[in-house]
Amino acid sequence: MTDSLAIQGGAPLRQEPFPEWPIFGDLEREGLMRALESGHWGGEGPIEAEFSQQFATFCGARHAICVANGSITLELILKALGIGPGDEVIVPALTWLATAWAPLQVGATPVFADISADDWCIDPNDVRKKITSRTKAIIPVHLYSQIAPMTQLLEIAREHRLHLIEDCAHTHGSEWEGQPVGAIGDAGSFSFQSSKGMTAGEGGAVVTNSDHLADLIFGLKNCGRRRIPDSPATFGSNNRMTEFQSAVLIGQLQRLPSLMETRAENINYLREALRTVDGVKVLEPKKEVTRQGMYCLSVAVDDRAFGGMPRDLMVDTLQAEGIPVTPPYDVVYRSTLWKPSEKLWKFAPDKNPRKELGLDAHCPISEQVSLHTGLAFNHRMFLGTKKDMDDIVDAFLKVQKHADDMRWKSLNKKFRLATRKVLGKI
Ligand SMILES: Cc1ncc(COP(=O)(O)O)c(C=O)c1O
Repeated sequence: MTDSLAIQGGAPLRQEPFPEWPIFGDLEREGLMRALESGHWGGEGPIEAEFSQQFATFCGARHAICVANGSITLELILKALGIGPGDEVIVPALTWLATAWAPLQVGATPVFADISADDWCIDPNDVRKKITSRTKAIIPVHLYSQIAPMTQLLEIAREHRLHLIEDCAHTHGSEWEGQPVGAIGDAGSFSFQSSKGMTAGEGGAVVTNSDHLADLIFGLKNCGRRRIPDSPATFGSNNRMTEFQSAVLIGQLQRLPSLMETRAENINYLREALRTVDGVKVLEPKKEVTRQGMYCLSVAVDDRAFGGMPRDLMVDTLQAEGIPVTPPYDVVYRSTLWKPSEKLWKFAPDKNPRKELGLDAHCPISEQVSLHTGLAFNHRMFLGTKKDMDDIVDAFLKVQKHADDMRWKSLNKKFRLATRKVLGKI
């Protein structure tokens, strides 16, 4: 029985959990006590100043401005760049909603471009096709473990006089040709939300080399107050980060390089080991990627090597074996969360909501990866041992060994329901 699949009642290949996230220790504990005892708990305190300085240096940027989260960061960057109603912003179809949400928040229209199959990042050729006279900016996302093709995107941005905003929510510490991500274009947006590679539970930062942009964003997140005395006030709300978050992030930034090293070592080992498994491919970093930060490892599967097993069923089967893999994001315009009700979200009378939301978009590669071929392994899974990596490989092999069992095809639905119950999803 031990050899049969766990989803069919066999013993799971792996019983012990993968490393938990977040990781913390004395660095964060002492930082939190320092914030607590300082009496300055809100935003714009000395601990935030310290963290912003350190994070700017880490990103090779002149400025880092701490903000409440990595969604508002994108919105504030667009606002500071003067992007608003009537403008279009090109975003990848495969990303977390926040990337496309930001243009909507400032009254602009997100326009979806497809991704490339080899990195799941925005495809520069499709970006070119989506440019119109109304396009003002491109927001590439450095998705999961990859970096968007910045050299080509910079070229397009220069050629068409567009702003380039990097969504770096997944890539703390990555470098493109030796340059840290974030300030390669006009500005970069980072998230410190719970699942990210460094975290304070919530939080975000904008990095930029532009003094002007930094000053505007500081005002926009701080009720209109400007950082540089005597410059005119902006019209902003409160999007500040607390001293507690900054204190935790100082610790997280300090431990990041060693975590990056552990992740890289394990991923290299896994990549090599998976070369022997038919139909499973860890996406390769491009030659320009000189350092790879990480949110999830992107893995493509070919169902033909698994007897035609649907990807979602493969996810359930691997999970039942003790491997906490997930599918990638929904394509934004297909997401159940991308459906504002008219009561909660009103478009201007001259706007067509379907068009503003891009609901008729069709980005075939994004859809293929999201629905059929993509798997994502969270970075926490690479903070342990080589044995953890061997278990991932063995789980694929175990599933593959049973994949030709024709019962999959007739019993798919039943198995899926059973697994969902086992995993507590329903
Ligand atoms: C690609 C991407 N952009 C932006 C965000 C938004 O970050 P936050 O959750 O801090 O608002 C996320 C968060 O998951 C993300 O994955």
